[in-house]
Amino acid sequence: MKIFVTLPDESVRELEGRPAATLMMTIRNAGVPIRAECGGAMACATCHVVVDDDWIGKTGRAGSEESDLLDMSDYCTDASRLSCQIRLHDGLDGLKVTLQLDAFEG
Ligand code: FES
Repeated sequence: MKIFVTLPDESVRELEGRPAATLMMTIRNAGVPIRAECGGAMACATCHVVVDDDWIGKTGRAGSEESDLLDMSDYCTDASRLSCQIRLHDGLDGLKVTLQLDAFEG
């Protein structure tokens, strides 16, 4: 499945995703410099992405524990998610997200 990730410089990376993988690991394994400091334990918020408006209905919005972490970010929006909490499935083929500055190791 294809995943499209916009980087802070507005360039777009097209990644190959696998069902059951997390979005964070998919981004990391593709060599995109995502901080993801806690490795997916939902303890850091440095894997922050904003989901494209057309896709937020399919990924769902952040739950309360996730929102508590995201609220600390200067870049938080209604469509913010922790990419380690998005598990890929076939219905997310074509997913578009933007990697936020606080998640970018650049
Ligand atoms: S990698 Fe730390 S919260 Fe997602």
